[in-house]
Amino acid sequence: MRYIKVDSYEIMSRKAAAIIAAEIVRKPNCVIGLATGSTPLGTYAQLIEWNKKGDLDFSEVTSVNLDEYYGLDASNDQSYRYFMNTNLFDHINIDKANTYVPNGIADDIDAECAAYDKRIEDFGGIDIQLLGIGPDGHIGFNEPDTCFVKPTHKVTLDASTIEANSRFFNDISEVPTSAVTMGMGAIMGAKKVILIANGLNKKEIMEKAFFGPIDPQVPASILQLHPDVTVIYTEKNPVK
Ligand code: GLP
Repeated sequence: MRYIKVDSYEIMSRKAAAIIAAEIVRKPNCVIGLATGSTPLGTYAQLIEWNKKGDLDFSEVTSVNLDEYYGLDASNDQSYRYFMNTNLFDHINIDKANTYVPNGIADDIDAECAAYDKRIEDFGGIDIQLLGIGPDGHIGFNEPDTCFVKPTHKVTLDASTIEANSRFFNDISEVPTSAVTMGMGAIMGAKKVILIANGLNKKEIMEKAFFGPIDPQVPASILQLHPDVTVIYTEKNPVK
């Protein structure tokens, strides 16, 4: 594990974007795993800038997202599909047909989850997976549990996750209480993993996850077992 502590959100974002860009240059048809949340916004802005300059080509790239709220469709501005379109896909030359986000409104959620894993397997796995971390140590929406859950699955969100994510909604009562998340199998099967985090509010969970015991109560701690993981952390928040 490479654990890199940096002095600003902007440096964190540029480093993460550089690692993703290097993968796309090395393998133009790579499969990238993407995350939502506030943390990756700077990384996505940097990737958009390089794409607009003509330095980075997404035309052959495939993306798979970590998660989606259960019950929200793509047109809902709180859905993760909407987030990805507006914060990245609409601004780069990726073919949207090659971008995948779990379908949170599938009639048969179990079949949707199984198909999501099968698709990733058919791609030959994920080449590079970008992750954030929740205040309770979740990655994707893999919440603290008694075991690490391997397949893509539907999950009930913890109260602390609902509370943390309520900042994006008008009212906490609007936050969905469940979600569909990629499981630990596909995440740990990714050839490379980058986890980014910022802010003093993440300091304690970062220490637990990367310097404490491997424990399903701290889901991100499983990454200590991954052979190629880069963690980039800054105590700082973005300069507004
Ligand atoms: C959400 C997402 C995660 C994300 C986490 C942290 O719950 N499901 O994938 O990593 O929140 O978000 P933020 O970066 O906004 O702190």
